[in-house]
Amino acid sequence: MQNLRVLILAAGKSTRMKSKYAKVLQRAGGRRLIEHVLTTARNLSPDIFVVVGHLADQVKAAISEVTFIDQKEQLGTGHAVLAARETFSGYAGDVLVMPGDVPLIEAATLEAFVRFHHEGGFCASVLTADLENPHGYGRIVRHNANEVSSIVEHRDATPEILKIREINSSIYVFHAPVLFESLVKIRNNNAQHEYYLTDVIGLLAGRKQKVGAFKVHSAEEVLGINTRQELAAVDRVMRRKKCESLMADGVTITDPETTYIDADVQIGMDTVIYPSVQIYGHTVIGEDAAIHSFSRILDSKIGSRTVVLEGCVIVDSAIGEDVSIGPYAHLRMGATLGDSAKVGNFVEIKKSALGAGTKSMHLAYLGDATIGKNVNIGAGVITCNYDGVNKHPTVIEDGAFVGTDSQLIAPVRIGKDAYIAAGSSITEDVPPESLAIARGRQVNKEGWVRTRKK
Ligand code: UD1
Ligand code: CA
Repeated sequence: MQNLRVLILAAGKSTRMKSKYAKVLQRAGGRRLIEHVLTTARNLSPDIFVVVGHLADQVKAAISEVTFIDQKEQLGTGHAVLAARETFSGYAGDVLVMPGDVPLIEAATLEAFVRFHHEGGFCASVLTADLENPHGYGRIVRHNANEVSSIVEHRDATPEILKIREINSSIYVFHAPVLFESLVKIRNNNAQHEYYLTDVIGLLAGRKQKVGAFKVHSAEEVLGINTRQELAAVDRVMRRKKCESLMADGVTITDPETTYIDADVQIGMDTVIYPSVQIYGHTVIGEDAAIHSFSRILDSKIGSRTVVLEGCVIVDSAIGEDVSIGPYAHLRMGATLGDSAKVGNFVEIKKSALGAGTKSMHLAYLGDATIGKNVNIGAGVITCNYDGVNKHPTVIEDGAFVGTDSQLIAPVRIGKDAYIAAGSSITEDVPPESLAIARGRQVNKEGWVRTRKK
């Protein structure tokens, strides 16, 4: 939108969150609160300013492509905006002010709000909503359908004012010169001894300036976060919305209530997500796949028609098409599975590649291994990759057969189509197409029991 700057307030102490971390860095729906707000704000303007103060270094390290403004002491929301006065000097356009802790607000709503402000010819406008439970929010005192006379903070409100259910979202549009002229006049004679940005609204309205109030229909959008309880409530809304948007795009989610999917996850059409599944980060899942209950997938790629059975943990891994994984498999640190591979019960795969058609169906540990195509890994096979100091690689070439309960002591290479006899401890390379047996020979002592009894 033309001639609009965005000013985001993120300097507050967030006392109610009880945290070592800045509130705007808390996560909901898979992103930091400030990331949600920034993503939305960028739809309106590229000129974004962020006021930082409490734990400023944390916030500065977490975001980029914005202009930071330092609020040295945290003396309230009005004081926070005032910190931007110098940066804004000479700027005669409008400024959209929003807090960093209202992450559900949508770009379309903000656009409609800014249009309302322009078309109504207001010098200041506030975005409001009717809340079921307005506890803790500033209340909107109006004198007609479009205009406000003041905003009263919950802590400063009389019982009469507390009955008002229309709340201040803390999102405003101001004509910038008017904003900064008014800010220098506000006082901190209130319950918290803070300089309230809300007082600018009352001040302007008192001087017969036109102050607009734009009420949103979906109250959910303006939910602010001050406590862990509110963080959980907002997270829940985001999860619901993510499931709704995936379902609208053709993904089956059998129980959205217990399904946790982060904002940036992508899932293809006709894939089925069963109850109690968690899919996080930048995970991408293809079409016609199935993710069964109690699996957690983070920052991974899952190909089309792949089935992840119950209880799997898949982190930073890339899985091909038509693969079957689990139940109870653990893939991590860049594990890759080729198309049609099969990984079964209680198999752990760390930093290893399995080629197309390779199978490891039961109870195995494969670490730092490069495994070719159509390899069979028997039950209980272990790559002994760690000597107590260093990690070593194992290579298993195409078509090899590694018998049950074998240990491959790395570094070691198993040649193409080679066989490892069950129960072997392999310490030396095995040439292609050969059989390796590395175990003690069996001795049968006939009659041994009878002899002992005597
Ligand atoms: C504020 C509003 C309240 C509104 C509510 C909506 C005021 C006085 N009150 O209350 O009317 O209903 O938001 O969610 O404005 N901040 C700074 N510096 C400061 C203080 C705060 O940058 O010195 C930032 C915070 O980091 C936060 C935002 O301003 O992002 C709002 O502050 P917060 O303390 O959360 O205000 P509320 O009590 O929620
Ligand atoms: Ca707040």
